[in-house]
Amino acid sequence: MGKQAPAAAVEPFLPFAKPEIGQEEIDEVVDTLRSGWLTGGPKVQAFEQGFREVTGAAHAVALSSCTAGLHLALLACDIGPGDEVVTTPLTFAATVNVILHVGAKPVLADVREEDYNIDLAEVERLITPRTKAIMPVHYGGQPCRMDELLALARDRGLRVIEDAAHALGAQYRGRPIGALSDAAVFSFYPIKPITTGQGGMLTTDDEALAERVRLLSLHGLSKNAWNRYTETGTAEYQVLAPGFNYSMTDIQAAIGIHQLRRLEAFQARRTELAQQYDRLFSDLPEVIRPPVLDDIVHSWHLYPIRLDLDRLTISRSEAIDELRARGIGTSVHFIPIHFHPYYHDALGLRPGDFPVTERIYAGLISLPLYPRMDDSDAERVAGAVREIVEASRR
Ligand SMILES: Cc1ncc(COP(=O)(O)O)c(C=O)c1O
Repeated sequence: MGKQAPAAAVEPFLPFAKPEIGQEEIDEVVDTLRSGWLTGGPKVQAFEQGFREVTGAAHAVALSSCTAGLHLALLACDIGPGDEVVTTPLTFAATVNVILHVGAKPVLADVREEDYNIDLAEVERLITPRTKAIMPVHYGGQPCRMDELLALARDRGLRVIEDAAHALGAQYRGRPIGALSDAAVFSFYPIKPITTGQGGMLTTDDEALAERVRLLSLHGLSKNAWNRYTETGTAEYQVLAPGFNYSMTDIQAAIGIHQLRRLEAFQARRTELAQQYDRLFSDLPEVIRPPVLDDIVHSWHLYPIRLDLDRLTISRSEAIDELRARGIGTSVHFIPIHFHPYYHDALGLRPGDFPVTERIYAGLISLPLYPRMDDSDAERVAGAVREIVEASRR
């Protein structure tokens, strides 16, 4: 047998995201399973209470997803056929889908280079007598210009429903996201700032809105399952609206209770990693780092770099392939709404309609950023980006 070259050390795959689930979450889930209350019970109530404390909102309603919460918020604001809702093209499909689900028309306003968030001058330009609400997205965890947005909404008599899927822990001018507008809705999908597997939370200071959302989240029943099945509850209930089955289970909430307690530590670690990336890319002009405004606290859900493709010989997708070949998972947030065939056809949108979004999207790559990463992971990612960029300079 001839001598074999030693196998090159292959570094393990670093996924784009990986949730941090600890023993407390596991124990709480087991406790829930043993307790007999699997949904609509005490763990959901405790998770909602924790959320009220973290966001400062008077009401919090736990739901099966952020999408469910956005859908119910629109319904609770009486938005329906004939109405228009202004939102951003640089978002996930769910933001736009819920507007379509209530029969309203999504109207897209381009974003700003300064923060990749909705451009209020564009929003203003697009308001018509049919406009009923603005649905801003706090892209990647950086809050929108909420004072200006709320002033515009107030001036024009519009509701504001925040898609806060990315923004748990974020603050705008010293105020947490969650109690600024008519409603904010957070996501607990596994890659988000905290997770419950799937799940969402709607927060609001508006009691009537919260009650409507709660009612619609449980089939439109007048009494929730907790009331129906407790010792003192009554089996009688009435259906007051054709609702949905959108409530959160106690199994999800059991995870969420502990995730929420760890939010501060998670966010601190995400912030450190983002700062580390910033340092590691500071001398690489082909890599445009995510912009950060100075009067906000970022949740750092995402660390989206932009490759300056004019300076490089490779495309964004080739760069993603090169990163994957080096064992690094990435993602793209987001393929703009108007690039998807459905919206392209249904809303009559075309490439070229949102030039700022398209310019940002062209080189956009979200790098791994999560509390389980250590400094050497971030160094490895940044080193791989550097290698790819240096090998493909024009
Ligand atoms: C901006 C945005 N809005 C809404 C959602 C939907 O959240 P969920 O998966 O909890 O329904 C997501 C992602 O999942 C998102 O990124």
